[in-house]
Amino acid sequence: MKVLVIGAGQMGGGIAQVAAAAGDEVLLNDRSQELIDGGLRTIARNLERAVEKGRLTSEDRYAIEGRIRPQLAWEPFAIDIAIEAATEKLDVKLEIFRKLDTLTPPAAILASNTSSISITKLGAATSRPASVIGMHYFNPVPVMKLVEIIRGLATSQATFDTVRDLATAHGKTPVEVRNFPGFVSNRVLCPMLNEAIFALYEGVGSIESIDTVMKLGMNHPMGPFELADFIGLDTLLSILEVLYEGFKDSKYRPCPLLREYVDAGWLGRKSGRGFYTYPAS
Ligand code: CAA
Repeated sequence: MKVLVIGAGQMGGGIAQVAAAAGDEVLLNDRSQELIDGGLRTIARNLERAVEKGRLTSEDRYAIEGRIRPQLAWEPFAIDIAIEAATEKLDVKLEIFRKLDTLTPPAAILASNTSSISITKLGAATSRPASVIGMHYFNPVPVMKLVEIIRGLATSQATFDTVRDLATAHGKTPVEVRNFPGFVSNRVLCPMLNEAIFALYEGVGSIESIDTVMKLGMNHPMGPFELADFIGLDTLLSILEVLYEGFKDSKYRPCPLLREYVDAGWLGRKSGRGFYTYPAS
C-alpha cells in the first residue's frame, strides 16, 4: 500500500516505521523539515537497535528506511491511505482532513490516529465520510500490539475491512470500537491517570509512592505518573476535556494540578519535565 503519515512525532514516526517494515511505501509529512528529520532520526535509532539485537539485518534496515520518503509540500499525494497523527486538537485535525480531501485520490482512505476526537466529525469535514475512520495506535508503536479501529457514523464496511487488514499487516491486533468520547482505551485509561493526579493533589501519596502502588500492586509496566509523562500531559488534558465535554459528567473533570503542569509547559518526556524530569536525549 502507499501510505501517507501526517505527523513525524512519536506516534507518526512509529506508524511510518511499522508501515515501512511491513512493506508499505510511506510518505512522511510534518510542518517543517526539522520535524520530519527528527522523526526519521528516531526511526533510524529504533532500527539500528533492532539490528544490534540481531532481530533485523542491516540490509532490511536500509530497505525499510528507503521506503520512507519525506514530503513536506502540501501537493497532491499519490497514496491509498492517509494516517493522520498530528497534534490532538480538533481545529488542527479538521483543517488537515479538509486539505487531505482535496489532495488525495477520491478512492483514498483518510484515517486518524486520534486518541479521542470524533471520527464522525472528521468525516463530516470531507466529501467522503464513508472513507474516514479511526486507526488508533499505541505508544511505543513498534512495541504495542493494539490498534483500536473506530467507525464513524458514516464509515463504510469496505473502509473498515481495508484498515483492519492493514493493521494486521502491520503486526497489530485490531479491535473494533464505536465512535464515542475516548473510545474504549482512553475512556478507561485516562480517568485512572487523572485519579492518580488527584491523589497527589490531595496529598494522599507522593509521585513515587503512587507509581510504586500501581507497578507492584497491579503489575502495570509503568506507574500512572510515568505513563502520563510518556503520553504527554497536554495530550492527557485534551483527552480528559473531550471526555468531560462529551459526557458532561463531573467524574471526567481534569485535575487542576494537571492543568497547572500544562500551563507551565511541563508536558512530560517530550519537554524534558513533567511529573519527573528527563535528561535531554
Ligand atoms: N520505540 C521502539 N521500541 C521501544 C521503545 C520505543 N520508544 N521503547 C522500548 N522499546 C522496545 C525495546 O527496544 C525493547 O525491545 P526488545 O524486548 O525487543 O529488546 C522492549 O521495547 C522493552 O523495552 P525496555 O526493556 O527498554 O523497557 P521496558 O521493559 O520497561 O518496556 C515499555 C518499555 C514497552 C514502554 C513498557 O514500559 C510499557 O509497556 N509501558 C506502558 C506503555 C503504554 O501503556 N502505552 C500506551 C500508552 S497510551 C497510548 O499510547 C494511547 C493514547 O491514546 C494516549
